[in-house]
Amino acid sequence: MSDYRRAKVHLSLGPRSYDVLIGPGVLGELGGVAERLELGRTVAIVTAAPVSRLYAPAVQSQLLRTGRAVHVMEVPSGERCKTLRRAGLLYKELLRAGFDRNSWILGLGGGATGDLAGFVAATYMRGIDYVQAPTTLLAQVDASVGGKTAVNLPAAKNVVGAFHQARAVLTDLDPLASLSARDVRSGLAEVVKHGAIADRALFEFVADHAAELRAREVGPLIHVIRRSCEIKAAVVEADEREHGLRAVLNFGHTIGHALEATQRSPRLRHGEAVGLGMIAEARLGRLLGRTPAECEGALRSVLTACGLRTVVKIDDREHVLETCRHDKKAADGRQKVALLSELGQAELCRDVPMRALSASLEAIEV
Ligand SMILES: NC(=O)c1ccc[n+]([C@@H]2O[C@H](COP(=O)([O-])OP(=O)(O)OC[C@H]3O[C@@H](n4cnc5c(N)ncnc54)[C@H](O)[C@@H]3O)[C@@H](O)[C@H]2O)c1
Ligand SMILES: [Zn+2]
Repeated sequence: MSDYRRAKVHLSLGPRSYDVLIGPGVLGELGGVAERLELGRTVAIVTAAPVSRLYAPAVQSQLLRTGRAVHVMEVPSGERCKTLRRAGLLYKELLRAGFDRNSWILGLGGGATGDLAGFVAATYMRGIDYVQAPTTLLAQVDASVGGKTAVNLPAAKNVVGAFHQARAVLTDLDPLASLSARDVRSGLAEVVKHGAIADRALFEFVADHAAELRAREVGPLIHVIRRSCEIKAAVVEADEREHGLRAVLNFGHTIGHALEATQRSPRLRHGEAVGLGMIAEARLGRLLGRTPAECEGALRSVLTACGLRTVVKIDDREHVLETCRHDKKAADGRQKVALLSELGQAELCRDVPMRALSASLEAIEV
């Protein structure tokens, strides 16, 4: 384990390459980063409560000190901001504030804020620069890295989007202090996913250090954030626009997204749904003869250690399956699902029968 208080992960994507800076206080370096990358003189900070109140003012004054014109654009917090309507309102605000092709956007907040900020940056004037400053663990280990941006439609999550890489990602651990315990647990689910698909040692690290991670200890957190970013970087470098390999990052997400979209009581956070999705998809892999039996139990036990649920009372099974069927990972009417071939390795299975998907839900039903 690295217990350095700083880490840097580089994404090597030719002209779209960038660094992820990780550590307590790195947001304080934004002004310097903006100068070094020669980012434009006009910037919009897209942010949501409570981050807008707690962290945006310091970021704003820092950027003002570099002589930039800074506009704070507040959006609703959480998933509610990921709409075309909200993107439209932001375009109008940017236009009114005189934003041109050299202006840039800072996404300051959780994964939802970052996805919206990235989407608007990808599309305003055919694409302007943006920097991600993720403030939830989930966004730090996953959403802020790799250039996927999106908004939702009422019928489906993330179906309108673009690939657009950030110019830099500043992953500051200090804002995690105000994050709810539930959101810390939710973020850990994506770390477990990175371990499960690519690094058994990371998976075991989370199992062994779950209590420290939940207590937000800096050393273990930097380790899992850095490893997660490295794993995601390697996959994205090999397959930036998800022609194949990148889909392994969706392990747990076919069923996870369907649960997240359909469950009303209890409502699930993204990471909670992905945790359940991973267990069900480990069962799915076993039913299809692809995944060793040990994986399901190992997932169940690490997720329990992280304080995540491993069973749920599914509101409407048919609705979950219907949503899986319409998942954007489905192609030509066939269901594509990322499955574990062993703990620490995943592969894409291109022809999953709905029958098996349905049976796999038994793994998570109360
Ligand atoms: N683009 C990608 O590659 C990618 C990958 C994974 C997930 N995502 C997306 O990320 C979203 C989930 O992200 P999330 O879990 O960060 O949820 P979120 O953005 O909804 O944030 C969760 C809550 O925490 C609050 N919050 C954020 N930072 C805080 C802080 N430091 N202190 C206190 N409160 C804080 C937010 O206001 C929100 O209410 C989903 O929309 C998902 O689709 C995208
Ligand atoms: Zn996810």
